[in-house]
Amino acid sequence: MNILIIGSGGREHTLAWKMAQSHQSSDIYIAPGNPGTAEFGINVPISVNNFKGLKALAIEKNIELIVVGPEEPLVNGIYDFFNEDPATASINVIGPSANAAQLEGSKAFSKHFMQRHQIPTAAYAEFTIENYEEGLIYIKAHPLPIVLKADGLAAGKGVIIAMTRQEALTSFKEMLQDKQFGEASSKVVIEQFLEGIEVSVFALTDGHHYQIIGHAKDYKRIGEGDTGLNTGGMGCVSPVPFMDAPFMQKVEATIIAPTIKGIKEEGLVYKGFVFFGLMNCGGNPYVIEYNCRLGDPETEVILPRLQTDLVSLLAATDNGTLEDVNIQYNDNAFATVMAVSGGYPGSYQKNIPITGIELAAALPEIHVFQAGTGFQENLIVTKGGRVLTVTSSGNTLKNAVINAQKALSNIQFEGMYFRKDIGYEFP
Ligand code: AMP
Ligand code: GLY
Repeated sequence: MNILIIGSGGREHTLAWKMAQSHQSSDIYIAPGNPGTAEFGINVPISVNNFKGLKALAIEKNIELIVVGPEEPLVNGIYDFFNEDPATASINVIGPSANAAQLEGSKAFSKHFMQRHQIPTAAYAEFTIENYEEGLIYIKAHPLPIVLKADGLAAGKGVIIAMTRQEALTSFKEMLQDKQFGEASSKVVIEQFLEGIEVSVFALTDGHHYQIIGHAKDYKRIGEGDTGLNTGGMGCVSPVPFMDAPFMQKVEATIIAPTIKGIKEEGLVYKGFVFFGLMNCGGNPYVIEYNCRLGDPETEVILPRLQTDLVSLLAATDNGTLEDVNIQYNDNAFATVMAVSGGYPGSYQKNIPITGIELAAALPEIHVFQAGTGFQENLIVTKGGRVLTVTSSGNTLKNAVINAQKALSNIQFEGMYFRKDIGYEFP
């Protein structure tokens, strides 16, 4: 079948790589893609929110399967846009309807959902400008630290962990009165701080059934030892040693199964990936957030680890056979290490030539997945903060990380930085 992947990051490069291996895939298109995705399909310069352009492409190329990478088009209703038009309604679009995508697009929606279905999550309250004064009182009585979240999508910047009440009050005012994140912060969720280790679990659902397809630990801070500013993710490991069978049974019984049951009972139209952002609090998992897509860079370890054919797996969401799929994993450990532009997550330069990708990619067990890259006069150059990530497997997690770092040492661009301690806590 002909496939369209929407997005242009490392996640989409990994999806293209994995789907190209399937005997079921014919032509693969990526919109807009990057130089990495171009190895596995045809890049088409249509942006992820240009629904009309994407629909015209899908019709012209007889696309039967669409995988939507990032959250924004999902929250903006791309599933419904294709589903409501008879010309494209038969296309299997992987991603929830706009209504169901509120599980990611609105913190208040997801909190209400979890409360209705008794899914463990941090205690919370929500405020708008209407009950602003109550919010001030709530903050003054709240134990520290205090977590404040803009309700809507705020490009990963809408969460503040305030260490003092003054900081919480200031952020509260900035979000609600000063409209710091525009419409996204017209509602604010204030949450209990959860102490623990953050992990990501991924499932695929057809809205009734689900399969768990992997889990990972993401290293979000820019600095070694988990210090400094938050980033989109500096590296990942999978499997995570403490996410053993008893822990995963708890995750499934208390979080995944009730979430899918809730989706079904509420009639939410959801055919796609569910990303459970969890906190492991002393062995008990709590939901920090839902995302309605795969993670990045989590995808760069979970798909290499997944041995099941991805195209058949995705097709199973459309023909009622998801329950029958046999999920199989590679026995090795996987790690990915992200190389970023100098200055990231602050300001950084772009259009810097990158060398050594082919050299690194030729090494055994190594995949180089490109994220913020582009072509400039036939050279691959930097185009973003997170530039590329190198994934490796190994018989131990440590070996996987060492392999990835060795491969990465072949790659160079001016200002390149990567964390040398991914997986540090797992000797
Ligand atoms: P979110 O956008 O909800 O994932 O929040 C961004 C980050 O803030 C998360 O990845 C966590 O590291 C942190 N965070 C969010 N909510 C909480 C919480 N209730 N307790 C502790 N940390 C949190
Ligand atoms: N790595 C976290 C995310 O994709 O949101």
